[in-house]
Amino acid sequence: MTRVAVLPGDGIGPEVAAEAVRLLDALGIEHAEHAFGGNAILAQGTPLPDETLAACREADAVLLGAVGLPELEGQAVRPEQGLLSLREELGVYANLRPARAGGIDLVIVRELVGGLYFGARGTRDDGTWFDTCEYTRPEVERIARRAFAIARERGGRLTSVDKVNVLHTSRLWRDVVTDLGRAEYDDVPLDHALVDSFAMTIVTDPESIDIVVTENTFGDILSDVAAAVTGGLGLAASASLGDDGPALFEPVHGSAPQIAGRGVANPAAMLRSVALMLRHGLERPGEADALERAVDDALTETPTADLGGTATTRELGDAVLSRLH
Ligand code: NAD
Ligand code: IPM
Ligand code: MN
Repeated sequence: MTRVAVLPGDGIGPEVAAEAVRLLDALGIEHAEHAFGGNAILAQGTPLPDETLAACREADAVLLGAVGLPELEGQAVRPEQGLLSLREELGVYANLRPARAGGIDLVIVRELVGGLYFGARGTRDDGTWFDTCEYTRPEVERIARRAFAIARERGGRLTSVDKVNVLHTSRLWRDVVTDLGRAEYDDVPLDHALVDSFAMTIVTDPESIDIVVTENTFGDILSDVAAAVTGGLGLAASASLGDDGPALFEPVHGSAPQIAGRGVANPAAMLRSVALMLRHGLERPGEADALERAVDDALTETPTADLGGTATTRELGDAVLSRLH
């Protein structure tokens, strides 16, 4: 029996996760919920309790809503630390963030467990606070290999995004990607772009973009931009994959405290994350395709408030479920 660990989290996380859970029930997939994020800090003092991490390790896949509580922002112990630990513990270094709408069909392949997020940090005696961007050759090579493989599989092109004109780590990044392309993927067209102008390209010419590979921080920012040009954060799903063990599936958006508790959050990003889980985590591609079609149709016919419509979270969930039956 397939088992999914569900981490609803904070804010709109539990609201959109509830729709995902109804879907899992409809698909006959076993699941259990675990404390995670800000609520876990308030109840147990830690965002990633040991029993939650153990349950995730034992599951076939992990499905996460979102974390983040305004009252914990900038505190020493934060919900987001739990998410970073979970990604690191599961070794899910490859974060796929597809963005699709009209003529746009791109995937950002974001390095997820390195760079500025995980480098040395601290405060010096002179009062300087610092974070460090660090990468090793194997770390860059494994994410580049994953991105090349995705590009090859769909007969596409790869764009590697860096800041080689300024950053030391970007010189490593560009070297490794170039070498790997020449050695193993010379059938995959490769180009390089600088992150600042590439951000503009996502806004002005997103149809020209296919597969993108980039480091952790750039991928975080660029994926929100890509979400914005394809309908917003309510629609953007992600899959975080390692080499073995359970993968993690979560919307790109956060806990959206401004709209939490009103039942109006768009659950599409969450439901599309379930589709990614069916495809990349549970080897159920037929159901993944059907679910993605059901979400697309439901969004067209019963749009939520972020898309200019009036459907509530539950109503969009209902519309998706009825199309699947
Ligand atoms: P956010 O993604 O929560 O919200 C940004 C904007 O998008 C807001 O206007 C919000 O209302 C809207 N939005 C997001 N999801 C939506 C949905 N499903 N339906 C309709 N509208 C939606 O980003 P933020 O406001 O910068 O961050 C809020 C909190 O979330 C912070 O604590 C942050 O750390 C956390 N966060 C968590 C995750 C995660 O758990 N993966 C991701 C991003 C941010
Ligand atoms: C995301 C989020 C996270 C990130 C935060 C909440 C740690 O913004 O998944 O995009 O920066 O990776
Ligand atoms: Mn983000």
